[in-house]
Amino acid sequence: MTDAVVAACRDLRRVYGDGPTAVVALDGVDLELRRGEVVALTGPSGSGKSTLLHLLGAMDSPTSGSVVVAGRDLAGLDDEAASRFRNEHLGFVFQFFHLIPSLSVVENVALPARLGGATPAEANAKAAALVERVGLGGRGDRLPDALSGGQQQRVAVARALVNDPALVLADEPTGNLDHASGGEVMRLLLELAQERGIAALVATHDPQVRDFSHREVVLEDGRLATPPTS
Ligand SMILES: Nc1ncnc2c1ncn2[C@@H]1O[C@H](COP(=O)(O)OP(=O)(O)O)[C@@H](O)[C@H]1O
Ligand SMILES: [Mg+2]
Repeated sequence: MTDAVVAACRDLRRVYGDGPTAVVALDGVDLELRRGEVVALTGPSGSGKSTLLHLLGAMDSPTSGSVVVAGRDLAGLDDEAASRFRNEHLGFVFQFFHLIPSLSVVENVALPARLGGATPAEANAKAAALVERVGLGGRGDRLPDALSGGQQQRVAVARALVNDPALVLADEPTGNLDHASGGEVMRLLLELAQERGIAALVATHDPQVRDFSHREVVLEDGRLATPPTS
């Protein structure tokens, strides 16, 4: 793995269940993600996009093959090490934001830093700077419910970045947003990934995500296909 490679999957397979009802969700996936690049992960529903994100995110284990993220082979992690690894090296953005409704915007963003052992002052300072960076400087004290969907997703992007992850995994991050808000979220993710040398893999059905990505990889029935060049 060269220095620029942040994450690598080798011959990755994930089979759910066994016997005649087994589902082959991933069937020999090879993929490398480099510093500062945003990659759109597309393909029909059921093609294995979420499964691939779960494996890269240390939330699930492959049936065979390997996943290396930030120089670490994820096969070596037990549950506790995996959650520590996720908090330290990964950021997650979900379709439905998953903000904690009883915490303010800044507190939501600060939470992963607090979990990682930062003092409240350090965590809040870092969170406040990120909240400003995603264009919500005046809204740090609000509760998530007081924000629009696009604003909530920008908070989620800030939260994903607070521990300076190597890799951000986003599963349909624009799926619950209107076109303009989705574009803003993607533009921010692209800018921040480039500024900070973070790799981002964005599973999506939204065609505009391509406009905010360096390249696209397409899953079909658990295998990566080469996208048509036009
Ligand atoms: N926990 C699970 N148990 C059994 N089958 C699953 C599970 N998760 C996903 N699958 C199956 O694996 C395949 C890939 O699913 P998924 O990774 O969610 O695809 P996508 O995100 O591209 O829609 C589908 O056939 C799906 O039904
Ligand atoms: Mg999915």
